[in-house]
Amino acid sequence: ASSACQAYRASILHFTADPAFDDKAHAWHEDGLLIIDGGRVHAAGDHSQLRDAVPEGVQVQDFRGKLIVPGFIDTHIHYPQTDMIASPAPGLLPWLETYTFPTERKFADGEHAREVASFFLDELLRCGTTTAMVYCTVHPSSVNAFFGESDKRNLRMVAGKIMMDRNCPEFLSDTAEGGARDSEELINKWHKHGRQLYALTPRFAPTSTEAQLQLAGELARAYPDTFLQTHVAENTDEVAWVKSLFPNSRSYLDVYDHYGMMRPRAMYAHCIWLDDHDRARMRETQSAASICPTSNLFLGSGLFDFARADAAQVPLSLATDVGGGTSFSMLQTMNEVYKVGRMGGTYLPALRMFYMATLGGARSMQLEGTIGNFAPGVEADFVVLDPKATPLLARRTARTESLEELLFAFALLGDDRAIAATYSAGRQVHVRDARQDVPEL
Ligand code: GUN
Ligand code: ZN
Repeated sequence: ASSACQAYRASILHFTADPAFDDKAHAWHEDGLLIIDGGRVHAAGDHSQLRDAVPEGVQVQDFRGKLIVPGFIDTHIHYPQTDMIASPAPGLLPWLETYTFPTERKFADGEHAREVASFFLDELLRCGTTTAMVYCTVHPSSVNAFFGESDKRNLRMVAGKIMMDRNCPEFLSDTAEGGARDSEELINKWHKHGRQLYALTPRFAPTSTEAQLQLAGELARAYPDTFLQTHVAENTDEVAWVKSLFPNSRSYLDVYDHYGMMRPRAMYAHCIWLDDHDRARMRETQSAASICPTSNLFLGSGLFDFARADAAQVPLSLATDVGGGTSFSMLQTMNEVYKVGRMGGTYLPALRMFYMATLGGARSMQLEGTIGNFAPGVEADFVVLDPKATPLLARRTARTESLEELLFAFALLGDDRAIAATYSAGRQVHVRDARQDVPEL
């Protein structure tokens, strides 16, 4: 038996397609077995079918009564904003001025950055998130600190240095050329170093000159397998500001399009105030939307329009947007996105929310086959969900009568407490503190 082989017995859920468009999108094994070899999925299926595939000498870990799903994927989050989560302001632009910029200033100090990155990654793992698309600050030291901590834990993370060269404090400003040079150096240092992946990160159109957007687009073409991330159409004041800064662009999204920034592996956060022409461009270019419900409700930015996004078949994913977002938990993010859907007349089944938080995220990042489900060969990033994590969750899940009801209970009532354990590349990277457990009911 290979010493790198492990096996886990539990209920198992994962996806092979989008349940919104395919009624055979999920695989559900009530008494399931997940076999890992060399940090990758060897097989996932029914225990009765797979038990003989477990090599002799490999002890099966018994998680019966719990549910194993792929690790959550958070497609938009700011690690430097960890310490300012839950800071109140009347909207996005005053929030950036009052809290965000002063907080990000501290990341010129590499040791401060390292300490925050370490806490941030531990908090993601506590919440069951195994991959995130992460904004660092304008300082290259903030990127080195982040990737250093992620690489140490062997996590599959995507991150990049913010580029911004106008409409921001002097202490956070780079230059078009300096920002591009630093980004290219960081690509060469970190992109595909172990499991680390680089994302070009122009913060948003208002904080970049045309020269900077031009260079960001050129880098996106020169390094087509890197990622790109930015914000778009989050808030109506921001949209009006962009219109005044770029009077010749058809729309806010069109600014990015003009500079060649729409392409596969480009992730656009928020996408609230788009029109149908914008949505068609997202689908055509396979640029993805990152939906950030806790942030959008907290900052009063608006409600993501699922009906119009689905009509245009925009690639969708789910994100926390901490520190604009109010929780690191993708379960809490599902709770809020469900209500955002309801307010727009859309009903989001729990199955679809779990898809968006796993394979949907992987697909929108062009990482299907690497992360996001339990197909053979996929990296073994997974979480163990505990239906008895809290007295209320235990009581409710004891009464659920279908998989959909069970998942819905996790989505609406669950948070970090529901994560019994988290695994990355087959290695346990979080286990819930037993002292927090509730007695058997
Ligand atoms: N737009 C530009 N920067 C930011 C940021 O840090 N957070 C959010 N939510 N929106 C932004
Ligand atoms: Zn953001």
